[in-house]
Amino acid sequence: MKKINMVDLSGQYNSIKSEVDNAIKDVINTTSFINGPSVASFQNNLERYLNIKNVIPCANGTDALQIALMSLDLDPQDEVITVDFTFASTVEVISILNLTPVLVDVDNETFNINIASLESAITRKTRAIIPVHLFGQAANMEEIMLIAERYNLHVIEDTAQALGANYTFSSGEKQKLGTIGTIGTTSFFPSKNLGAYGDGGAIFTNSDVLANKIRGIVNHGMYKRYHHDIVGMNSRLDSIQAAILNVKLKFLDQYNNSRKIAASKYSKILDKVDKIKLPKVMGELDSHVFHQYTIIINSNERDELAKYFLSNGIPYGIYYPIPLHKQKAYNCDRFKEEQFKNTNNLCKTVISLPMHTELEDDQINFICDKIINFF
Ligand SMILES: Cc1ncc(COP(=O)(O)O)c(C=O)c1O
Repeated sequence: MKKINMVDLSGQYNSIKSEVDNAIKDVINTTSFINGPSVASFQNNLERYLNIKNVIPCANGTDALQIALMSLDLDPQDEVITVDFTFASTVEVISILNLTPVLVDVDNETFNINIASLESAITRKTRAIIPVHLFGQAANMEEIMLIAERYNLHVIEDTAQALGANYTFSSGEKQKLGTIGTIGTTSFFPSKNLGAYGDGGAIFTNSDVLANKIRGIVNHGMYKRYHHDIVGMNSRLDSIQAAILNVKLKFLDQYNNSRKIAASKYSKILDKVDKIKLPKVMGELDSHVFHQYTIIINSNERDELAKYFLSNGIPYGIYYPIPLHKQKAYNCDRFKEEQFKNTNNLCKTVISLPMHTELEDDQINFICDKIINFF
């Protein structure tokens, strides 16, 4: 059996090596390092893939969230609702922009925003909701959009972990995640489902007005060279990264499918272990692209299991060990412990198993055998 990795970037690279190497060489040969043709072509290809009018590439997924918020003309202290159980980027950018982060609990079943908590957190100052499609599973976009409409709120979908997943509305209509809200964002961090070989990100919107604003913001607020019409940033997708992403985008559905197959193999074997709660796919199968395969250990033995993994050469991840409301940077009197029952519990009980496009059957069987042995 090959050594087990949490993610296997080199195995994936080897399978597309010559195409990636040629794409990188092309950029170097043309020296179009900033905003070169590869960026425009990746933008067009991603627009087509997502079936959205505007994709604006940028430097990383955190900038994508910040730029999305900047484009909405919010006032200082306006409230933005997001989840307590996710990577820190969302709450970070809300705070950087001098807006007020309002953290809410997630569902135990999906790890995604709890609809009742979301609705009860809305006040007269609420302007936007940032749902995160955590671990690759679609948040309940139908309910979120209904609430947003009712209270006249913007929705920024954080699709960093779920690019390529679909949401199916009760009407039967399907839409790619990231294209349903006012704005969608993603990250091309190397370990993401569509990962670059460095940092990268993108912003999606069907609104031409917002897209025009966002295109200015990512490039120092300039529409004409050295004319700065709005306050902007330097947040461009590097041409070399765009060239690599252009190659990899063709394989995104195949990559997501490999993850789903690995997930179903894990679930089939682990289903018989009583003390484990397996990740559920809510709704249609294509609503989950398994960025992570995260299980819940119901027996207070999560940390013991983690130690056992280490001693058996099995890598793992704890996403996330501390709820955002308890982080020093974001802790404040507005947050009451009883509001975060699920996130407090999940941070103590979740563990993510190795998940990538190159997982082999003997590796999955080995990991599952060890888990069964442990319990
Ligand atoms: C849910 C989520 N949002 C945002 C980000 C930020 O992306 P980046 O690392 O590209 O800034 C990440 C990446 O780790 C993420 O997982």
